[in-house]
Amino acid sequence: MRRRLLLLSLAARRSSVSLQPRWGRRCCCCCAPASVRGPSGSPPGRRLLSTPIFYANGSPHIGHLYSALLADALHRHRQLHERGGRLATGTDEHGLKIQMTAAAAGSLPQHFCDRVSAEFRGLFAQAGISYTDFIRTTEPRHRRAVEHFWATLRDRGWLYRANYEGWYCTAEETFLAASQVTECPDTQGNRHTVSLESGHQVHWTKEENYMFKLSEFREPLLRWLQESRLTVTPEPFYQQVLQWLKQDLPDLSVSRDRNRLQWGIPVPGDSTQTIYVWVDALVNYLTVVGYPEAHHDWWPAACHIVGKDILKFHVIYWPALLMAAGLDPPEQIFVHSHWTVQGQKMSKSLGNVVDPRACFQQYTVDGFRYFLLRQGVPDRDCDYYDEKVIKLVNSELADVLGGLLNRCTAPSLNPSGTYPRFSEACFPRAVGTQNRKGLGKASTEDYKLVSSVKELPLQVSSYFEGFQVYKALESIVDCARQTNGFMQRHKPWKLSREDPSQQQWLDTILHVTLECLRIYGLLLQPVIPTIADKLLSRLGVGPSERSLRTLTFLSRYQDEQCPFEGRYLGPDTGLLFPKLEKPKARNHGGL
Ligand code: MSP
Repeated sequence: MRRRLLLLSLAARRSSVSLQPRWGRRCCCCCAPASVRGPSGSPPGRRLLSTPIFYANGSPHIGHLYSALLADALHRHRQLHERGGRLATGTDEHGLKIQMTAAAAGSLPQHFCDRVSAEFRGLFAQAGISYTDFIRTTEPRHRRAVEHFWATLRDRGWLYRANYEGWYCTAEETFLAASQVTECPDTQGNRHTVSLESGHQVHWTKEENYMFKLSEFREPLLRWLQESRLTVTPEPFYQQVLQWLKQDLPDLSVSRDRNRLQWGIPVPGDSTQTIYVWVDALVNYLTVVGYPEAHHDWWPAACHIVGKDILKFHVIYWPALLMAAGLDPPEQIFVHSHWTVQGQKMSKSLGNVVDPRACFQQYTVDGFRYFLLRQGVPDRDCDYYDEKVIKLVNSELADVLGGLLNRCTAPSLNPSGTYPRFSEACFPRAVGTQNRKGLGKASTEDYKLVSSVKELPLQVSSYFEGFQVYKALESIVDCARQTNGFMQRHKPWKLSREDPSQQQWLDTILHVTLECLRIYGLLLQPVIPTIADKLLSRLGVGPSERSLRTLTFLSRYQDEQCPFEGRYLGPDTGLLFPKLEKPKARNHGGL
């Protein structure tokens, strides 16, 4: 609370209009008193996760899918912990880029956006993105929110009219400083000015615009960021933002001449200007939670997942705009790097854009979800090539996980088709780090396995919440490999069911393996929901037994009842993940 008031007062000191903090007060339209609210002022369970809203100027590619998958996996993970919350996604439909692309396609911008937005929706349905809200910036509810937001900025004195001169990059819909552009010859030898970062051409823009007093938010932004290092994750991006804030922070042009840009929301009260597409787009996060009337229960408990190219918009412009409007900055911003293809940036001109729908067809939806989330490391760019997908999913999903399930459900080893009994005599409880060597049949490695799997759910949760889904998957696979090692070590197929002591040990090995598999199935639900469902159904784990909040592991080892012991396994519906064939040479083009 003190931090928020400080931010506000800092901003207020510089503003000619006083800021009205909403913290610690009852707002006019939501009725819960502060005491029943969560740490950020929102009731517990009311947390918003968001993907960026995707430009409706072209078909989705695997980079877009990756942003959405990270958000989906985190949302599903939270749902399994029964933490509630919403997942918002959608399409960004205004701006010069879309106006020009639609014109080039001989289409009306609205028709063009309808088509592309439907493509994103279709892809997300196929990919199993479990969004709760899909927002389009051309919707009336969004226009209302943007108009209200603009009017608030204006009424609080944060906007002024001025002649703006500068470089504008239409491809990125952004203004660039002189230090961010360079001259570059094209194929005909003509010199063009281009963005240093993206290589896109920029144009000198000179017009009268509305400016936002961004320069006044340098200090409040720094304080907000320094207050919690976890606001921007991973760390290198946090450091990058601090670096930016050490430099000059010029005011931001937040409107365009309507003669130049008609495809956007007009400035309220001034029909000669159109609101800058990034201000329009960022407000989507408020629109989905009911701004301007009903957002108080949800805001600022928001976590935005964004690619590194749009970091500045989310960590500098957006929080500054929010503070100016009298709202808190979002709680967290998770940043991810980009996918390249065989070492190159994905681009239409290079013809190397990877179509996610073709990937689903080739590797299955869950296979491809697994690949992107297992291989994608947020801190650095990841390189895509087909052979890598096949190698990874065949090895981890088919061999490690599928192999393990096959082994312990095979009729030769498990003729009764049940979750067999655990014998304490064979696997006595270890006291501290000491196992009861000599008493049972379990080895030191077996105790290590049990302790690794016992710790796994907590570890996986903390990886998810730390935006390291790839590490969560790595640790699950690592445990699954250890479980295969456990089977391999004890070779249950060499034990005889005729001999009661061997049978007890055989059943215990199967029981422990099935328990491990059950944990892996539960933990994999957010990433590969279909395969996890198949695995859990095969183990006979019912829908109400799949929550991560109430998860237990190897209860019998803890001297507790195991609800699965003795239960029949579910039906055998075939291989968990049939191995993928090597692809025929594929042209990545087509988008
Ligand atoms: N419309 C803006 C976002 C507005 S949010 C208020 C935008 N759209 S985008 O379609 O260009 O990008 C959407 C997301 O896709 C961004 O997070 C971006 O980083 C991500 N990706 C685009 N290309 C990518 C890769 N090659 N790899 C990974 N993600 C990439 O920006």
